[in-house]
Amino acid sequence: MPETSKPLIAVAGATSKQGRSVVTSLLESGRFRVRALTRNADSAQARGLAGMGAELAEVPLALGHQHELVNAFAAADGAFLMTPPLLPPDSEEYPLGRELADAAVEAGVGHVVFSTLENVEERTSGAKWAPHFTDKALVAEHIRTLSIAHTFVSLSFYYTNMLEYYAPHVEGDTVIMPFYLPEDFRAPFVDPLTATGPAVLEVFSNPDTYLGAWLPVVGDVVSPAEMIEAFSQVTGLKAEYRNAYTREGLLNYFPVFAENPFFADETIGMVEYAVEFGYFRDDRDTQWSRRIDPNTLTWEQFVRNTDWRGEPVAFGN
Ligand SMILES: NC(=O)c1ccc[n+]([C@@H]2O[C@H](COP(=O)([O-])OP(=O)(O)OC[C@H]3O[C@@H](n4cnc5c(N)ncnc54)[C@H](OP(=O)(O)O)[C@@H]3O)[C@@H](O)[C@H]2O)c1
Repeated sequence: MPETSKPLIAVAGATSKQGRSVVTSLLESGRFRVRALTRNADSAQARGLAGMGAELAEVPLALGHQHELVNAFAAADGAFLMTPPLLPPDSEEYPLGRELADAAVEAGVGHVVFSTLENVEERTSGAKWAPHFTDKALVAEHIRTLSIAHTFVSLSFYYTNMLEYYAPHVEGDTVIMPFYLPEDFRAPFVDPLTATGPAVLEVFSNPDTYLGAWLPVVGDVVSPAEMIEAFSQVTGLKAEYRNAYTREGLLNYFPVFAENPFFADETIGMVEYAVEFGYFRDDRDTQWSRRIDPNTLTWEQFVRNTDWRGEPVAFGN
């Protein structure tokens, strides 16, 4: 297919873990062109995407830039939209998500895929506070009112959280792994770096099949105890669980949360929500991503493939 006749997909947050996966899958398929939106075209990650063949568009991913976003979405057949990690209490995730979607409509984009999460406020009747979930659900509600073809993907807890944000430490010969979940509670997890792209590629390859769909992306449903056992089997290292599910445990093992009590409240609200209400609504098709991508990594495969041995890992620019 001549390069210019391939559909063009604009990717917001292209250098993020989700975004990089989307850009990689779309380009590797050989069937799409990609415009990668970034705040900094000179970053190592952005240059990496350009090296793969993505066109770069430098645009702020922040409120008040709808005009620049419209330009960045111009002539795109599709757009992958996501909101970056923004901390409470001043997170502008909901208005930012709306701005992205409105800009896509104004630019005449054919189909948007938005990375969303469940509405925790609604599901818990206000008992749990996790605005970075609920705000994404409100953005999805807004998108449903727009005259644009749309599909939602929804990522599970990331495996990478344990490498990036909740890294273990070593005591003697043992890797100490504090988890934000109870030891035996099974939750959905996924590798955002390898699972987001195949899901989004599937949607843009068969857009009519997925009009209005809400699609969970799941690699494994696994408990901390099972994750630690698999980690030990793969690495040969001794490892032990520690409880960072309670506020006391979270602040003890990850003192950074004490710097922003809203962030601690939000994290606790999120994990209590997942444990008491379920990360995904019961009617979600949690098998979908494995059906369309049987190679979606389980936790054990993720540890094996990444050679992770418990050290902190940075995935950013
Ligand atoms: N962690 C989890 O378990 C989990 C699970 C499901 C969903 N999520 C959601 O996934 C989203 C994050 O995705 P990710 O982990 O793929 O992102 P990420 O790797 O942290 O990257 C975020 C990207 O967003 C851009 N960005 C723009 N404004 C930013 C800002 N103010 N702060 C930080 N980055 C900013 C940056 O790109 P440029 O510098 O190139 O512009 C950066 O590469 C969040 O909305 C989070 O709620 C997380």
